[in-house]
Amino acid sequence: MNRPHVIVNCAMSADGKVALPTRKQLRISSDDDIERMYKLRNESDAVLVGIETILSDDPKLTVKEKYVNNPNQPIRIILDSNCRTPVDALAVNDLAKTLIITSKKCSKKFNDNVKVIQCKTDEEGQIDLGSLLELLYNLKIKTLMVEGGSTIIWTFLNKRLVDDFYVYMAPLIIGGIKTPTMANGKGIKSIDELISLEIVKVSRLGPGVLFHFKMIK
Ligand SMILES: NC(=O)c1ccc[n+]([C@@H]2O[C@H](COP(=O)([O-])OP(=O)(O)OC[C@H]3O[C@@H](n4cnc5c(N)ncnc54)[C@H](OP(=O)(O)O)[C@@H]3O)[C@@H](O)[C@H]2O)c1
Repeated sequence: MNRPHVIVNCAMSADGKVALPTRKQLRISSDDDIERMYKLRNESDAVLVGIETILSDDPKLTVKEKYVNNPNQPIRIILDSNCRTPVDALAVNDLAKTLIITSKKCSKKFNDNVKVIQCKTDEEGQIDLGSLLELLYNLKIKTLMVEGGSTIIWTFLNKRLVDDFYVYMAPLIIGGIKTPTMANGKGIKSIDELISLEIVKVSRLGPGVLFHFKMIK
């Protein structure tokens, strides 16, 4: 299958959490990690998040001039089967192009920078990531940065569709049994479905640690 190079990037606490117990965003990354994240975003053709991240954090998903000279704004992609993206969400503003990927028809009116694309679903009725990646490749998206949230990261890992996986671990503890972790979703059903990673590099970054993993497929 022709597909983009997929990079997953996330920031977690030392107990593996990626948000507050209320699911609201908090700043986990250090300044150095934020700069690294913006550079990675700038080098990507597109950045992708799930609809719940849009609804809880309302991210812009653009590149800030402060971190990158002459930013190249990647295409923003939202996985949103039921077209729940608010028309005033920051990720559909006119600072960059956005693709909203749905599994149903969507009658909402977004601005001209936004395209809604209906995609095939998989056996579980979710947007089929294989078909989606092929579609993105045909749109000339060769590098895709997946930024979360937990369910989306789980799905990409579980489908073995990740080429590079960066995890910044901050020296913080958030706690909470329902707090989103780096990979939520349904989890594996049996031990032979374990997702194995290989450590490419571990480096100290500001007060935290950056892990670069690859998947053992
Ligand atoms: N620290 C970090 O690096 C970081 C980064 C981003 C987000 N976050 C946090 O992550 C949390 C949100 O994560 P989340 O797990 O609740 O939601 P999410 O991963 O952002 O979005 C999940 C939703 O995406 C939709 N979706 C469409 N196609 C899918 C597919 N093939 N596979 C899976 N989902 C698909 C589903 O909704 P539909 O069925 O309606 O389509 C699903 O419920 C927030 O608390 C946010 O703050 C943290």
